[in-house]
Amino acid sequence: MAELETLEKELISSIKEAADLKSLEEIRVGAVGKKGSIPALMSGLGKMPPEERKSFGQSVNKVKQAVTTELESRKAELERIALNERLETEREDVTLPMRQSPALTGRIHPISQVWEEITEIFADLGFSMAEGPHIETDENNFTKLNIPAEHPARQEHDTFYFNEKEDGTRRVLRTHTSTVQVRVMENEKPPLRIIAPGRVYRCDSDQTHTPMFHQVEGLVIDKDTHMGHLKWVLEEFCKTFFEVDDVTMRFRASHFPFTEPSAEVDIGYSKKGDEMIIGGEEKWLEILGCGMVHPNVLHNVGLDPEEYQGFAFGIGIDRLAMLKYGMSDLRAFFAGDSRWLKHYGFSPLHVPTIAGGL
Ligand code: PHE
Repeated sequence: MAELETLEKELISSIKEAADLKSLEEIRVGAVGKKGSIPALMSGLGKMPPEERKSFGQSVNKVKQAVTTELESRKAELERIALNERLETEREDVTLPMRQSPALTGRIHPISQVWEEITEIFADLGFSMAEGPHIETDENNFTKLNIPAEHPARQEHDTFYFNEKEDGTRRVLRTHTSTVQVRVMENEKPPLRIIAPGRVYRCDSDQTHTPMFHQVEGLVIDKDTHMGHLKWVLEEFCKTFFEVDDVTMRFRASHFPFTEPSAEVDIGYSKKGDEMIIGGEEKWLEILGCGMVHPNVLHNVGLDPEEYQGFAFGIGIDRLAMLKYGMSDLRAFFAGDSRWLKHYGFSPLHVPTIAGGL
């Protein structure tokens, strides 16, 4: 019995002194594990006289209980100590400044922004999107649009030509998005109501011209579409785009081989320093060409001009961006200067919607 007491004391004190969870586990295995000192005492039980057996068994059980309780409480304590140590070493300083996320530092180019704004407005007016390739046939860029070979309008377009092929045909970098009109009219049945934004190319460069620029083509074909519809659509577009009701617009009679009658539209603005301010009649910037689709064009794409009519327009996306966001040199758009983009670019999280604001 005295042995038992000594064993209990020894075990309890070594448990109390266990410095970490690993040595505590070793003590546990040595005391109550299968081959531990307490089960060893129990195995001697069978050889005892029955009267001693009972009381000895009870005493051993008590010791086992006491040791188990002590093991558990020491384990809990050691775990708490270990957790506190971890919390101490893995502490984060939440007051340190955060690294800026790409969503905050990246910028959307004004052209991409304006492109999105334009498609959003026309989608709201019921237009769908169409596309065409940048490398076009001479036919789609000129002939089918009522600009036959030798027509003087070909010179005005400052076209980038590809080398002539063996069969005498040559491709061009499309000089306008009107090529998409041809593709849509040839492949789809009226009524048609599409816009086609995209890049176009002309060999020209100054403050308001770059060899690559952007247009958005519009085309509406139906049985009784007329010039009044065209004017309404363009006015609605400008009001929504510039987010002002008193945009000043000037429709000037003009000439395009593929429309009859034709008009060019200018937007009124004034200058304050380098900034361009929308409205008024001080200065005008031409932003688009438009007109009623020429019967020859309808005929060329296989539509009956007696049955169908409609309008088309081609808007300069870059010009619109200059006006709306007050940038006076178009060439800077394509110079790839990150300081310029940082200043004039848009947050990627600023997605233009008519309801949320353009
Ligand atoms: N394609 C013409 C241009 O680039 C614009 C235009 C489009 C004019 C559609 C009339 C109709 O100048």
